Amino acid sequence: MLIVASSNADVVMKAAMAVLRDGGPALDAVAVAIRAVEANPHDHTVGANGYPNLLGELELDASIVDGRTREAGAVAAMKGFAHPISVARKVMETLPHVLLVGAGAERFAREMGFEAREDLLDDDTRAAWETRLTRDMPREVFERVAEQPDLWRWVKLASDAERALSTVNVIARDARGDIASGVSTSGWAWKYPGRVGDSPIVGAGNYADNRHGAAGCTGMGEMALRAATAHRVVIGLEMGLNVEQ
Ligand code: GLY
Repeated sequence: MLIVASSNADVVMKAAMAVLRDGGPALDAVAVAIRAVEANPHDHTVGANGYPNLLGELELDASIVDGRTREAGAVAAMKGFAHPISVARKVMETLPHVLLVGAGAERFAREMGFEAREDLLDDDTRAAWETRLTRDMPREVFERVAEQPDLWRWVKLASDAERALSTVNVIARDARGDIASGVSTSGWAWKYPGRVGDSPIVGAGNYADNRHGAAGCTGMGEMALRAATAHRVVIGLEMGLNVEQ
């Protein structure tokens, strides 16, 4: 049994490992670990209190892959639900699709009984958004940011050196040797509305294949999208390369 995860999941490793020790599937261990990070209000890169987009809206992305079958589920740019990883898993288990975005993902989450939430950003997180935007943006522009005809000019705020662009990544192998992998994120802080990174794109930010291994990406999602990085890494393992190579 094995769990490999990003450091922001360290506090939940014991609980995730307990799932595996109890004979649970890798998919459950991945979901348990990622849900805990999504619920951590101090992590501004994942789930509740993730830094929002330019408009101050929290848009969440997540994906999960079952290495036994390469079945996968994902949601992107989903608002108003705290646990995108669980909605992604439901997509995999319930629909003949892999990826739902925006309003469709939210509708599906409601249909599956997930609780819609309007309180996913606390006052401190909203204040961080306002402070960062108004450092560069005139107050009168900020006050009417949703109406700006050239919002695209302000996306430079999403590519500054202080941007948050992390993720939670968890790969688990259970007692049967089955592998699963999951990734969840609120994406780049202050991103353009509707921007989707690599995390919910199977093959870019997340991939698992029982036969060869798994990979999850963090950091600048545009790079992993362009290079199909997670799949490429697993193909490398299939070819006999080691992880460094
Ligand atoms: N890798 C996370 C993101 O770019 O959204």
